[in-house]
Amino acid sequence: MNNQDLLKIAEEFGSPVYVYDSEKIISQYNRLKNAFNQVKHLKINYAVKALSNISILRLFKQLDAGLDTVSIQEVKLGLEAGVDPSKIIYTPNGVSLEEIEAVAKLGVQINIDNLSILEQFGSKHPEIPVCIRINPHVMAGGNTNISVGHIDSKFGISIHQIPHLLRIVENTGMNINGIHMHTGSDILDIEVFLYASEILFETAKNFKELEFIDFGSGFKVPYKEGDIETNIEELGEKLSARFKEFCKEYGKELTLAFEPGKFLVSEAGKFLVRVNVIKQTTSTVFAQVDSGFNHLIRPMLYGSRHEIHNISHPEGKERFYSVVGYICETDTFATNRRISEIKEGDILAFDNAGAYCFSMASNYNSRFRPPEVLWHNNKAHLIRERETFQDLLKGQIPADLSDIENKVDE
Ligand SMILES: Cc1ncc(COP(=O)(O)O)c(C=O)c1O
Repeated sequence: MNNQDLLKIAEEFGSPVYVYDSEKIISQYNRLKNAFNQVKHLKINYAVKALSNISILRLFKQLDAGLDTVSIQEVKLGLEAGVDPSKIIYTPNGVSLEEIEAVAKLGVQINIDNLSILEQFGSKHPEIPVCIRINPHVMAGGNTNISVGHIDSKFGISIHQIPHLLRIVENTGMNINGIHMHTGSDILDIEVFLYASEILFETAKNFKELEFIDFGSGFKVPYKEGDIETNIEELGEKLSARFKEFCKEYGKELTLAFEPGKFLVSEAGKFLVRVNVIKQTTSTVFAQVDSGFNHLIRPMLYGSRHEIHNISHPEGKERFYSVVGYICETDTFATNRRISEIKEGDILAFDNAGAYCFSMASNYNSRFRPPEVLWHNNKAHLIRERETFQDLLKGQIPADLSDIENKVDE
């Protein structure tokens, strides 16, 4: 997928538009699989939240991946994509018992992350095997919003509550078939990950009926040239060896599971926008584009970095630009970035636009959410249309307010 392909896509489908490269997704999937090829039973469950377009879910189904879901709606999208319920794991946080029961009824693996629901679910459905999410209290992840395994985090059952957890399991007679952790996103140091894994192994010894251990995800991908990334191959080598050793001790070949989102789809995505206005102030040159945090919120929400390229004029002299949106609040995508000289009407391409970009888009300012295009076999396939005015009105019911007319003071 080169610049010319992207420009053609922007011309054909308009801007802004999201584009995903199937080849990159497939190569990331294979890279992870190969890194763990020493493990006999490996399960890669794609984290649907990262990018939930049904065509992307179908692509993962074709790769024989499972899905990691956090809501009943994500589960249903997975089923709609044809994924077998037995290949879906559901890891919610703070949802109702009713929703968990409804998902269990669909035949999906349940993962429970608090003692209250565990006790209620176990008492009512002791026959349904359950995975438990442990909080190993390890600080990993690139940002406090995305670090979820630390001591103050709302996620998972604290390792300090294992005695209580075991009492619930014993009293209800429920079967714990899996044990899980997810320490956070953007893990830089694999030693921290391996350390957290040791805590998981230690915890696992308390359960006799395990079928799998799920190590979550959080692999860091590069955001610019030379950027650090999780060394998947080294992690694969070290964790596989340790996992095999643990299985021997445990006396059973367990399945090693992961649930990556970003690693699989982040780099496959590009977000294309058009420059509406170049505004030169006394201190800054702004490039104002036809989008904002309604379409891509990560820079504003987490301070995440997306490289931005002028694909209309890539060879121009580089200048410093602040790239901002058209929203009625500050919506800065990038400050003082070196980009090839931009003219109004140029198309800019944002990198790393596959994960948590479209899936976090909204209709703020009553703008339409952009279309999505899958670049597959050297061809552009439209996989979601741009929204229309009808989509903004859908579901709205005009109230009868005719009486107000009589209440206006003369
Ligand atoms: C429980 C769980 N699993 C997996 C993921 C996917 O993480 P990542 O996109 O960093 O791979 C997340 C991300 O928030 C998560 O909360």
